[in-house]
Amino acid sequence: VNQANGVKGLADLNLPTVPPQYIQPLQARFDHTKIVPEESIPIIDFTKWEEPDVQNSIFDAAIKWGFFQVVNHGIPFKVIDDLKAAVHSFFELPAEEKKCLKENSLPEVVRLATSFSPHAESVLEWKDYLQLVYASEEKIHAHWPAICKVQALEYMKHSEVLIRKLLKVLLRKLKVEELDKAREHTLMGAMILSLNYYPACPDPEVVAGIAPHSDISSTTVLLQDDIGGLYVRGSDGDSWIYVPPVEGAFVINIGDVLQIMSNGRYKSIEHRVVANKRKTRISIPIFVNPAPDALIGPLSEVLENGDEPKYKHHLYSDYFNYFFSKAHDGKKTVEFAM
Ligand code: SIN
Ligand code: FE2
Repeated sequence: VNQANGVKGLADLNLPTVPPQYIQPLQARFDHTKIVPEESIPIIDFTKWEEPDVQNSIFDAAIKWGFFQVVNHGIPFKVIDDLKAAVHSFFELPAEEKKCLKENSLPEVVRLATSFSPHAESVLEWKDYLQLVYASEEKIHAHWPAICKVQALEYMKHSEVLIRKLLKVLLRKLKVEELDKAREHTLMGAMILSLNYYPACPDPEVVAGIAPHSDISSTTVLLQDDIGGLYVRGSDGDSWIYVPPVEGAFVINIGDVLQIMSNGRYKSIEHRVVANKRKTRISIPIFVNPAPDALIGPLSEVLENGDEPKYKHHLYSDYFNYFFSKAHDGKKTVEFAM
């Protein structure tokens, strides 16, 4: 099968069945009987984010669920809608244009890919994505594809404000009062905007949109469309909880970095995406990542009361490279830091 145009190219062929390289072994497929329909992650109104009640609900969610949704986050609906439309336009570009982008883009800034780590995977994931590195040096963004550049930049500019507020709240509860330049470098020194495209799949039961994994970010700010498909691990470690699309909301999750820095107080929770039979789904996560040269380990502030560190310090680039050297494997990446 020709994979030059990713999974989108396959889906466009209207194949009656899924090509073998996307078929997950039985034990890896999603077991719908494990869904707990009565459970859901909290939805938090961010309007009064500076008030203790709101901060406490964010703190509780980060500890209990590792996931929550925020509404009234201050990012204009138009900015969101324009970016969603641009994501569709990008992936609907002729195969030839995407191929050209793939061959001519700077891999450190723009990466168009399919699946997760194809070189390391025995089965591929049913997903294409475009990753754009966001940085304070404006010149970097000149490499972003023209069809979505303006929309993506506008989105990032607004999101950055929300991200700083979220990190401030999460840090404050760990007794860190300030998000100074050094901490910005450690927590949000290298942000990545990912435009994810999950084409409709002839047999969603046998594929993985994304296989179970935890994020290696500090935190992830995700925009999903109205199709649905995201599930997060329940607190029993076995069940799955559906994350319903909520109009205008962001799904926020704690990544491995904040789990490590909080010495395990905050939880980086496993999640997965189930493909859809009839419709293409898009999602747009911002991976709020540390700079590659940042040293990641439990904060001295959280160890002040004599807690034993659960994790060792390590360079973020080593953690990052380890994550991409293997297929998605649930919560295993964090063992690298133990
Ligand atoms: C992700 O886990 O990276 C993306 C989740 C989603 O598409 O909802
Ligand atoms: Fe994720």
